[in-house]
Amino acid sequence: MSEILIKDAYALIDGVIGRHSIYISGDQIAGIDRMPEGFQAARTIDGADRLVIPGLINAHTHSYMAPLRNIADDMPFMDWLFKGVQPVEDNMTPEDAYWGAMLAIAEMIRCGTTTFNDMQMHIHQTTKAVRDSGMRAVICRGLVGDEYDKDNYRVKEAFEEMEDGKDCGRLSFMLGPHAPYSCGPDFLRCVADLAKEKGLGIHIHLAESVTEIENLQKDHGCSAIEYAEEAGCFDVPCIAAHCVQISDHDIGILKKHNVSVVTNPASNMKLGNGFAPVPELLKAGVNVALGTDGAASNNSLNLFHEMSLLALIHKGTNMTPVCVGAEETVRIATENGAKALGLAGVTGKIAEGMKADLAILDLTEPSMMPRTDLLSSLTYSANGSEVDTVIIDGEIVMEERELKTIDLERVYHEIEKMSDRLGIGNKQKINRK
Ligand code: NI
Repeated sequence: MSEILIKDAYALIDGVIGRHSIYISGDQIAGIDRMPEGFQAARTIDGADRLVIPGLINAHTHSYMAPLRNIADDMPFMDWLFKGVQPVEDNMTPEDAYWGAMLAIAEMIRCGTTTFNDMQMHIHQTTKAVRDSGMRAVICRGLVGDEYDKDNYRVKEAFEEMEDGKDCGRLSFMLGPHAPYSCGPDFLRCVADLAKEKGLGIHIHLAESVTEIENLQKDHGCSAIEYAEEAGCFDVPCIAAHCVQISDHDIGILKKHNVSVVTNPASNMKLGNGFAPVPELLKAGVNVALGTDGAASNNSLNLFHEMSLLALIHKGTNMTPVCVGAEETVRIATENGAKALGLAGVTGKIAEGMKADLAILDLTEPSMMPRTDLLSSLTYSANGSEVDTVIIDGEIVMEERELKTIDLERVYHEIEKMSDRLGIGNKQKINRK
């Protein structure tokens, strides 16, 4: 069994940063400041200038879309989707989706993310990328449809993929009805019934844009939140991405059913949709997690960027510096994400018995000096490049910024080939010797 000691480092435990030694045995945190019996460190990481945090949790993304980064920027939302992204996306092969997911995972690990919640189209590809990279993920096959049809081919694929991934401890699954505008009420009811039947959670996009809300009002006389509630989506653990266009009444519904909301500030703002009313959601006691959304709409998968935005935009729009503070922001990106994904007690915290999913930051970076308030550093001044070492499930997947499980050169080669074939440019090729 591999045993790792992180010796005398700064560590974020229960919202407080202090100096601790962390003992990792197998895939778990086996002791904090207390050496477990029989522990023999195969590796010792000197914590003198290091800050250990729980690995960040990207609670909403589409990893296969990483190759679509920067292909359709600064365009109106519907043009972005239907003229910019979708025609290229439709030409992606399953193999493209695998390399896309590998690129996404590489970027996430480099920025301290250890778990992501993915909605995808090509089954078996993200799961394979997760297996190969050592990442932790919750995966759902994106589902669209109109009729009450449990034999919808996408639904069948979703279950086929769950079967395929059930032996990997780092993988778990949900059902992923895409959104109210792509899932009719009968189909949504069908997916909710299946989720109940099989004991699965639901991951859905809700209330992303004004157009979505206006159309639902016109066609069904309800809000997106009411639409999903009516279909039964909230009768199971539910992750609602976006929730930008919601009322106080909607917030009450989300709280009543313990729905977790994933806010994606960069994506929402970039597409001109606004952003979720996070202070109001938190005040109402709703679990709020943080996501990047896909690289086509962000265009980064860096949660440090997202944490900074989250902590700043609500202060700016509410004209008060005392909302969504540093400690709360870090909690949203870690503990709350785990709770949303059904992984509370597994990841998102540094505690004995939890999986060893950790990001270790180099405090000798200028952005981390002086060490006046490291929680503030994490939220306001870090940019992700300070992440030096990443451990997932007790395995070191990055050390001194070198990825151990991903051959980045190979990934870049495949992404370049794919970009050429998909006709999305690669205008500036990588210079290779
Ligand atoms: Ni999305």
